[in-house]
Amino acid sequence: MRIALLGMGTVGGGVYELAAKKGIEVVRVLERVRRTENATTDIADIADDPRIEAVAEMLGGVEPAREYALRCIRAGKHFVTANKLLISRCGIELAREAQNAGVRLVFSAACGGGIPFLPSLVRARESDRIVRAGGILNGTTNYILDRMQREGVDFASALADAQALGYAERDPSGDIDGWDTARKVTLIAAVAFGALPSEDEMPVMGIGNIRTEDVQAFKRRNLVCRLIGETAKTEAGVTACVRPVLFRVSDAESAVLRNDNLCWYQGEQSGLFRLMGQGAGRYPTAANVLADVLSLNAGLPPMLEEGLKPAALTRAAAEPYYVRVPGYAAETLRTLLTGVSEAGEWRMGETVPMEPAEIQKIISALPGAFCAATVREGGKS
Ligand code: HSE
Repeated sequence: MRIALLGMGTVGGGVYELAAKKGIEVVRVLERVRRTENATTDIADIADDPRIEAVAEMLGGVEPAREYALRCIRAGKHFVTANKLLISRCGIELAREAQNAGVRLVFSAACGGGIPFLPSLVRARESDRIVRAGGILNGTTNYILDRMQREGVDFASALADAQALGYAERDPSGDIDGWDTARKVTLIAAVAFGALPSEDEMPVMGIGNIRTEDVQAFKRRNLVCRLIGETAKTEAGVTACVRPVLFRVSDAESAVLRNDNLCWYQGEQSGLFRLMGQGAGRYPTAANVLADVLSLNAGLPPMLEEGLKPAALTRAAAEPYYVRVPGYAAETLRTLLTGVSEAGEWRMGETVPMEPAEIQKIISALPGAFCAATVREGGKS
């Protein structure tokens, strides 16, 4: 198989290194700074090269990735990408173009890093009806939460380490505020339900405001905080949200350490399946890109089915939340809170059951406030 790479950053460099071992020849590399013999800065050198069967894109961002994708797909090249933003924003357009051109569009590494979650979802979708899917989908935040919980490290040091290890996005607010997870949830919904939600319509709550006091409070109650993204299909429609969730130490989510992800889906007939592994990092993600390349001629069903449409999200289920809010806000929230305790300028308590969109509205208006859905009997997933 002869391919071209778009991008030679953390993941692209990993793909370049690993490709030869898999019998894949990298014919051209699109890169700004020349690091390889076959480098180019002109997409035409790739789109117009008849030797190239497939293109693997690891540039990130929407443009110029979208323009390059369209150009390569229209030139009859299979397109493999690790770019979740590209698929989240342009998945419908690119899937239609790929279908018209008779080529494959695959993006396993865009959700779950090194975990072959999306191909598993495709397989499950073909034989069962998927009811809901999601999990711990961001390596950076899991790494931060795990180090705060097990080692008592503060948020800023744990984030700096995650950046040094190459897990975080260039702008890590995408990780810690939950947007990276939200984008992955849109991909999951698109694959599982044939409906692509917009992240802008999704309730998204991150861990940017979590403090050592929160983690200590969870530890006293034998609870572990994880950032969860999930989507479900009910009779009313598709739901999707991202929020921190508290788990018992015996729940599967609590055993997900460092940058690992835990991806799950529930099939109507097959029940709950979980896949766990490295959700971020150079080589695991590169290996997933290469697995996509190697699968291109295997005659698999398309990752995005014909007729993919935008999803209008319906309201997600209400659940109680742990909250830490500034003291001045506790009085206003009195009717919503039980078991309020004091920690300096903060008040901690548990809310009545609330929908993610409702609690997000309250918490986002209070500087420094944090919330996490509280654990339910039997865990969350
Ligand atoms: N920044 C992402 C993460 C990379 O931490 O999970 C993998 O998508």
